[in-house]
Amino acid sequence: MKKIRILAFETSCDDTAISIVENGKKVIVSEKISQVEHSDWGGVVPEIAARLHSENWRSVLEVCLEKAQVKIDDIDYFACTKGPGLQTSLLTGTTVASFLSLLYQKPLIPVHHIHGHICAVFLDSILNPLFPELVLTVSGGHTQLHLLTSPTTWEFLGKSLDDAAGEAFDKVAKMLGLGYPGGPIVSEFAQKGNRRKYEMPKIYLEKDSLDFSFSGLKSTVYRLIEKEKITNGEILSQNFIQDVCASFEFTVGKIFLKKVERAFEKYPQANNLFFVGGVSANNYLKMVFSDFLRTIGKILITPQKIEFSTDNAAMIGSAAYFLVKKNPNIAKVQFIDANARLEMTSIKEKI
Ligand code: KG4
Ligand code: ZN
Repeated sequence: MKKIRILAFETSCDDTAISIVENGKKVIVSEKISQVEHSDWGGVVPEIAARLHSENWRSVLEVCLEKAQVKIDDIDYFACTKGPGLQTSLLTGTTVASFLSLLYQKPLIPVHHIHGHICAVFLDSILNPLFPELVLTVSGGHTQLHLLTSPTTWEFLGKSLDDAAGEAFDKVAKMLGLGYPGGPIVSEFAQKGNRRKYEMPKIYLEKDSLDFSFSGLKSTVYRLIEKEKITNGEILSQNFIQDVCASFEFTVGKIFLKKVERAFEKYPQANNLFFVGGVSANNYLKMVFSDFLRTIGKILITPQKIEFSTDNAAMIGSAAYFLVKKNPNIAKVQFIDANARLEMTSIKEKI
């Protein structure tokens, strides 16, 4: 059977990522340029992101084609992230992919960013999921729970009502003066800290809620830091930083665990847990989930490589493959508009 090759673009935030994926799983090449320029600002600056995407996409594409020894003629489809994300960033990917689609008269497939994150578990993997699967997607912009009934159908279960968990990691890092992106740095400091040093609020919301809230946790960290500065001076000690990071990570783990436990109670038909998105690169959280899942006879499924947890274009190529396999009509020679607020509405399917 002919293999389907997709050239995918992902530019929803601060990575200019391009990849070629075969049959939704085999990553032929996956390249990106991450914009370190934002670290001075403690967050992504939309204008800077847009400028860097438009400066960088061409060299990333050239490296991809060169490394894969593939010509555009060998590509079956183009794919790009349509949204959600930063409008200024999304525009580069959608415009370049649309331009190539029209120029080469090859069909283009629009992909939802979170659908991409979910499909990251298939990359370079021999995984055969037992649908339905519970999916926790945690990134800088999203914290969501879905019940996945196939690679292209899902039911929405819950989301963060305020900050995304990745955003909370980034804000804690900023308050502690640790740089951006905050997740990996906070996690590193947390390893040496005392996870039970500071009691932080575990907001579980109503009894059966599968939504999340992290803003109270962030404010608690802010108040702790202010108090510490008044008592011990403006410069925070290494011990203090480590203990705050450890207590914060511990609390995030408790909140996630509670929601995952609730979700499995409410949806006992769910087989295992997919944990995806940038925060799924976190080793402590992976350990917390694995330990719990073992007690209920389930397993944790995460992307094979850390680079597939954080933003990448291979995941977009994978999602595009499953979409076009299900409905060939979605792939057209077309111009796609970026949509910063694209919803991921439930697509229910009887199983
Ligand atoms: O999925 P992603 O690359 O981009 C978005 O779609 O937002 O996620 C980025 C987020 C950032 O907030 C970053 O701090 C967080 O993922 N992150 C982590 C880790 N690695 C990345 N958070 C916790 N622990 C990590 N090891
Ligand atoms: Zn993402």
